[in-house]
Amino acid sequence: MASQTHQQTGLRSDHVARSSPPPPKSRWRTVLGRYPTGITIITSVDESGGPIGMVVGTFTSVSEDPPLVGFLPQRTSRTYAGIRRAGRFRASVLGAEHEGLCRDFFAAAPEDRFSGDAWEFDEHGVPRLRGAVAWFDATVHDVLPAGDHVMVLGAVADLGLGPGADEAPLVFLNGGYGSFAPPVTGVDLAELGSRLRIAAGVGDLVQGLARDLDVECALSTVVRDQVVVLTAADNRLPYVGTCFPFAAPMDPGFAAWCGPDLRRAWVENARRLMGQVDTHLLDDTIALVRERGYAISFGHTLSEHFGGLAAEARSGREAGGGRSDLARLWERMATGYADYCRDPRPQAHAHTLQVPVFGPDQCVAFELMVGGFGPGIGVERFRAILTAALDRAARITELTDGTPPAGYVPKLP
Ligand SMILES: Cc1cc2nc3c(=O)[nH]c(=O)nc-3n(C[C@H](O)[C@H](O)[C@H](O)COP(=O)(O)O)c2cc1C
Repeated sequence: MASQTHQQTGLRSDHVARSSPPPPKSRWRTVLGRYPTGITIITSVDESGGPIGMVVGTFTSVSEDPPLVGFLPQRTSRTYAGIRRAGRFRASVLGAEHEGLCRDFFAAAPEDRFSGDAWEFDEHGVPRLRGAVAWFDATVHDVLPAGDHVMVLGAVADLGLGPGADEAPLVFLNGGYGSFAPPVTGVDLAELGSRLRIAAGVGDLVQGLARDLDVECALSTVVRDQVVVLTAADNRLPYVGTCFPFAAPMDPGFAAWCGPDLRRAWVENARRLMGQVDTHLLDDTIALVRERGYAISFGHTLSEHFGGLAAEARSGREAGGGRSDLARLWERMATGYADYCRDPRPQAHAHTLQVPVFGPDQCVAFELMVGGFGPGIGVERFRAILTAALDRAARITELTDGTPPAGYVPKLP
């Protein structure tokens, strides 16, 4: 169809490019900025064997048989000149974690781009990004003229997933960096209905725990990528039905025992809310929660947690967005988290406890949240509350045909 149009009009593509005036640069960028691209660093070696590389958004798959990939460097690019000479390149696909690396790489002088331990080198000296999401080794198959750029076609000699393959890829859109995470579709409405029934069925157990310990209790679950409160025992907690984003570092109890999609959503929701996340801190938090067998929240009471979130989420929805308010709340709640997490006396700062209730798939189906007791309670009272909450959560797990994961043994302080 396209070739027919060309025949009918008698135009060749280079003729079109010459005869129509180019759109103003700003318009060109504004319109193309709406098209999201992945980010890849293309690397090779210069004539003295030194590493060279450039950030590109134009890396693309071209052909499966034979396997060809391509990218479009500017004709004047020094990296392109080097790649042409070397006849080979590696394409390393960046993950969301690499935003800083990408900015530094782009801003650095060519000779300073490969300092640091993010890079290793193959037998030809071509740099490889260690933590890439995916990588391709290619030899230059062809170079096609393309206006002020050229299209470099690479014959793929080898390809693979990198250690970052499970992380979200880095995405460039509208002049800014972001990330993509697949929508979480784990829980459908029927599943939510069954969880609501379960929550209603164990409401007395939650209420009883609150009464016995003189604390606030609630039972929550994750639906898609939102936390939803299903039961709240205490008239001071009219938060049933409240939902808020499942975003790190809040609710690490769900993230510690869930599938990889939901875990990714936890990280990516936080990245969206706060612009950046400390993945090492999150990994440490998850490891700590798994080791302890329960999670602790600091710096905000259950009422503040639910009350603030409910109000922000409501005003955000009414205002048709309000993400910045939610982001501010998240930043406030995340402040000091790292220090608290590493404190050997958690009861000194703990405001709430979150204890997992497991489903039949050994993932967390519900979280039993206990608050209204601290901070600054003695270790004896903390232990008593924790023991009772763990017992109650285990009972609910049992009653609802759930199974804790192998090796789940909570540790008391
Ligand atoms: C997100 C992003 C995407 C880019 N994509 C391309 C691209 O596809 N082609 C290109 O020639 N330059 C691209 N650039 C610019 C090059 O990375 C940069 O100009 C580089 O220094 C190339 O010049 P050099 O090879 O002479 O160093 C991109 C830069 C950024 C930040």
